[in-house]
Amino acid sequence: MGLADWFSGWFKASKPKKNSPVKPGVIITKPVVKKKKSPFEGLVQINGEERFEKIARTGQGSMSKVWRALDRKVGRQVCLKILDREKTLHFEGRFRGLNKPIEGEISFGLKHHNIMQTHEYGIFKDGNPYIVMELVDGMGLNFLIETKSDKLDKNRLNLLCQICDGVEHVHKSGFLHRDICPRNILVSNAGEIKIIDFGLSIPYTPPFCQPGNRTGTPNYLAPEIIRRRSTDHRVDMFALGVTAYELFCLGMPWESTQSMQTLISHINSPPINPRVFVPNLSDEIVNFLLKGIAKEPGDRFQTPGEMRDAAKRLME
Ligand SMILES: Nc1ncnc2c1ncn2[C@@H]1O[C@H](COP(=O)(O)OP(=O)(O)OP(=O)(O)O)[C@@H](O)[C@H]1O
Ligand SMILES: [Mg+2]
Repeated sequence: MGLADWFSGWFKASKPKKNSPVKPGVIITKPVVKKKKSPFEGLVQINGEERFEKIARTGQGSMSKVWRALDRKVGRQVCLKILDREKTLHFEGRFRGLNKPIEGEISFGLKHHNIMQTHEYGIFKDGNPYIVMELVDGMGLNFLIETKSDKLDKNRLNLLCQICDGVEHVHKSGFLHRDICPRNILVSNAGEIKIIDFGLSIPYTPPFCQPGNRTGTPNYLAPEIIRRRSTDHRVDMFALGVTAYELFCLGMPWESTQSMQTLISHINSPPINPRVFVPNLSDEIVNFLLKGIAKEPGDRFQTPGEMRDAAKRLME
């Protein structure tokens, strides 16, 4: 689906059609959507201590603590993400009045074999939101890249196709992920991709795509985010492009940085040629990788499906 279709679909929904039986001058009353007073309104509240036995920490994010835990209610091990209430409220506060679904609600609605499954979300008695997920036994793609794992050998395009399938499902479900990077992609021991971390995800509608905060992981931010322009699903395409580049090159297309000043300077400099990292890469792969990280959104792969089809052709 092209960009124009996404947005025109949204606008059409609120306009009467040309041959509509509604006469001019007749006021169409829209269904009243109740605005949530707090992002946590309506969440089920439970006693976390009683329900879960924490077994080991699997991760520490900037906004959360993530545990391998026993869910006593169902008698199985799960992944339990406990978010920091204040940080979550601060983030969600940017979208006041827009009825934005919170992280757990977004990931709960996404059912796809390349997206980790969310079983439940709610709020603990102490006020911290939680998410119960399937426990993915495997490793972060970042770890496989950093350790130059042989699990990547002859498997890169296959992994990339699975990542594209997962992101395609996110987009087709009406959301942007906005934090695609190897750290947020798990590879299960069976070799299956599982996309995680919908903490920065937003509904894909115009009010959420206004220019504004530079949200995401610095090295994966599309130039239009850095320039504070309006954004669309192609910010995820850029992040996918950087991820693909790293998968093949085991290095970043621009000098890795946390500094916004350096990121701004990246916009004006060409990426490092992939052959600097891997001298024998074919022309087709080099062109594929460079298209993935094109600075102009229109020069990139336009959708995850387009990128996957191009990756599939490279496998033939
Ligand atoms: N379903 C899961 N199964 C196994 N491990 C997981 C799962 N979800 C998350 N993790 C682990 O916990 C880490 C942090 O999770 P997540 O990225 O969702 O948290 P975060 O607070 O948004 O983190 P960050 O700010 O680092 O992106 C992941 O990098 C991963 O190692
Ligand atoms: Mg993360």
